[in-house]
Amino acid sequence: MRIFVTGGAGYIGSICVEQMLNAGHQITVFDNFSEGHRAAIDPRAWLEEGDLLDAQRLKDALAASQSDAVMHFAANALVGESMVNPTKYFRNNVTGGMHLLEAMVSCGVKKIVFSSTCATFGTPERVPIDETLPQKPINPYGESKLIFEQMLRWYDVIHGIKHVALRYFNAAGATERFGEDHRIETHLIPNILKVALGQKESVSIFGTDYPTPDGTCIRDYIHILDLAQAHMLALGSKESAKYNLGTGGGTSVREVIAACEKVTGRPIRVVEEPRRPGDPARLIAASDRIHAELGWKPQFESIDAIISSAWAWHLKHPTGYGD
Ligand code: UFG
Repeated sequence: MRIFVTGGAGYIGSICVEQMLNAGHQITVFDNFSEGHRAAIDPRAWLEEGDLLDAQRLKDALAASQSDAVMHFAANALVGESMVNPTKYFRNNVTGGMHLLEAMVSCGVKKIVFSSTCATFGTPERVPIDETLPQKPINPYGESKLIFEQMLRWYDVIHGIKHVALRYFNAAGATERFGEDHRIETHLIPNILKVALGQKESVSIFGTDYPTPDGTCIRDYIHILDLAQAHMLALGSKESAKYNLGTGGGTSVREVIAACEKVTGRPIRVVEEPRRPGDPARLIAASDRIHAELGWKPQFESIDAIISSAWAWHLKHPTGYGD
């Protein structure tokens, strides 16, 4: 298939692009490089540089690509930042997303796979989180993704655009060539690995008084290759659907730090700090629906294997993409 990938220079987008190219698809990457890196774009992909907020440019790029489907990764995705600057999140994730849907209508593209998030659920009534639980975001990031999910429904009803929204839990890990490099790193695993590399003195633990066994937040870390596999299965799905995507396992912040010490063989200095605003205590996925309907199953279920792949990439690329 010919696929138009927004955000294909970002962490998750770049690795999905690599995997889709390996599977024989033709890819056009649309990216404004606000977060992504030129060196993260697989050279086999075609690049259209542009911004989702520039509706005409976006429409022209989509038309030129003659794509059969869109994969929409481009977004701002930091919970903490969204609590300080909600406008950035609604502008880029909602208005930018709307431009993409308009462009799809005008070019007659009838399929979209959307990077949604477990943050649309807020603090869930129970874990694991399945698709029947109410979505009540507790930060503007999650709200912006939920609004786009709701827009998708109407573009299906009115314009017949079929969607698959994948609500990722915590994406982690790397392939040999591509990995996680944010200009401002807020994510737990890369921040711990920076300590192991000697680039940071210590890692902060945000909150040690959560109602969890060791007092730190629990997350469901899913390997990026398992995410990529879900995207490829989603491309083949005929009906619109929304799926939660995680391994079903939960790992606390302290457990992630211990696993990083084990994998790297290096001590990690920690500093305990107050809670970070907008963080729910426990987020774990129930992914039975995507397993039943698309046959998806994660290959990487151990946190050690996920961290090992990230560590191998960081050792090879100690300054990330170097830009
Ligand atoms: N954390 C620390 N220290 C750090 C960084 C994070 O203790 O230096 C804690 C956080 O408080 C959280 C856990 O580690 O409890 C994981 O934090 P991340 O920032 O790595 O990821 P999030 O859980 O915040 O992930 C959320 C959503 C995802 C979304 C992602 C985007 O759950 O769906 O933000 O940034 F994609």
